[in-house]
Amino acid sequence: MKIIMLGAPGAGKGTQAKMIASKYGIPHISTGDIFRANIKNGTELGAKAKQYMDKGELVPDELVVDLIMDRFKEDDAKNGYVLDGFPRTIPQAEALDKALSAAGEDIDFAINVEVPDENIINRMSGRRACVGCGATYHIKYNAPKVEGICDTCGKELILRDDDKPETVKNRLEVYHNQTQPLIDYYEKKGKLKEVDGTVDMNDVFNAIVDILGA
Ligand code: AP5
Ligand code: MG
Repeated sequence: MKIIMLGAPGAGKGTQAKMIASKYGIPHISTGDIFRANIKNGTELGAKAKQYMDKGELVPDELVVDLIMDRFKEDDAKNGYVLDGFPRTIPQAEALDKALSAAGEDIDFAINVEVPDENIINRMSGRRACVGCGATYHIKYNAPKVEGICDTCGKELILRDDDKPETVKNRLEVYHNQTQPLIDYYEKKGKLKEVDGTVDMNDVFNAIVDILGA
C-alpha cells in the first residue's frame, strides 16, 4: 500500500503516519525527519537543508527528490510506504508520478488531514520532540509520563527550532502557496480522501482505517 499524507504543518501527519506504519507494516518515510537526522549528524545535506528549514521555507525540489528516490530503493519500501511531508510541491508530485509509472505503479491514497490555521499555532507551541528517537508529544494532548523526558528512550524532549510562532506563521503561508495545490492535484487523479484532523488523534486514526480497510 502506498499512501501520501497531506496537511498543513502541525495537522498531525507524522502522528497518523506512525500509527499507519505500525498497523499496516509499512515504513513511515518523513522527509522532515530525514533532514533533521542529517542536521543532527552534521552532514552536508543537513547543513544545506537547515538554511531553509529554520526560516520555514521549503528545501529545493532537486535535493528532496534525489533523497526520496534513494529511500525508495531500500528493502523495506518494496511493499509500500506512508509518505509524510513529501510531495510538497507540484514538481515533487510530478517527479513521484513519473518514477512510479515507470515501474508500472501508482499511489493508492492521498489522505488530507484537515486542521484550520487557528488551531495550528497552539498545537505547534505545545509540541515536544525527543532528541534521541524523534518521538513526538504534546504537552496537553499527548503528554509524556514524566515532563520533558521521552517515554520510549528516556532522552530529553525539546521544542523544534522551526516551531517558534513567527516561523510557524511563515510555514503556514508556504503551505498555502506551494503545498495546498496538491489537494486538487490528487483529487483530479481520484486518489484524494479527507479526514477531520481536529478531533482526538485516535478518532482521526479510526477515520483513516475506515478509508484504508482493516
Ligand atoms: P516537516 O517535518 O514535514 O514539518 P511539517 O509539514 O511542517 O509538519 P510537522 O511535522 O510540523 O507537523 P505534522 O503534520 O507532522 O504534525 P504532528 O503529527 O507532529 O518539515 C519540516 C521542514 O522540512 C519544512 O518546513 C521544510 O523546510 C523541510 N521539508 C520537509 N519535507 C520537504 C519537502 N518534501 N520539500 C521541501 N522541503 C521539505 O502533530 C503536531 C502536534 O500536534 C504534536 O504535538 C501532536 O502530538 C499534536 N497532535 C497531533 N494530532 C493531534 C490531534 N488530533 N489532536 C490534538 N493534538 C494533536
Ligand atoms: Mg511531522
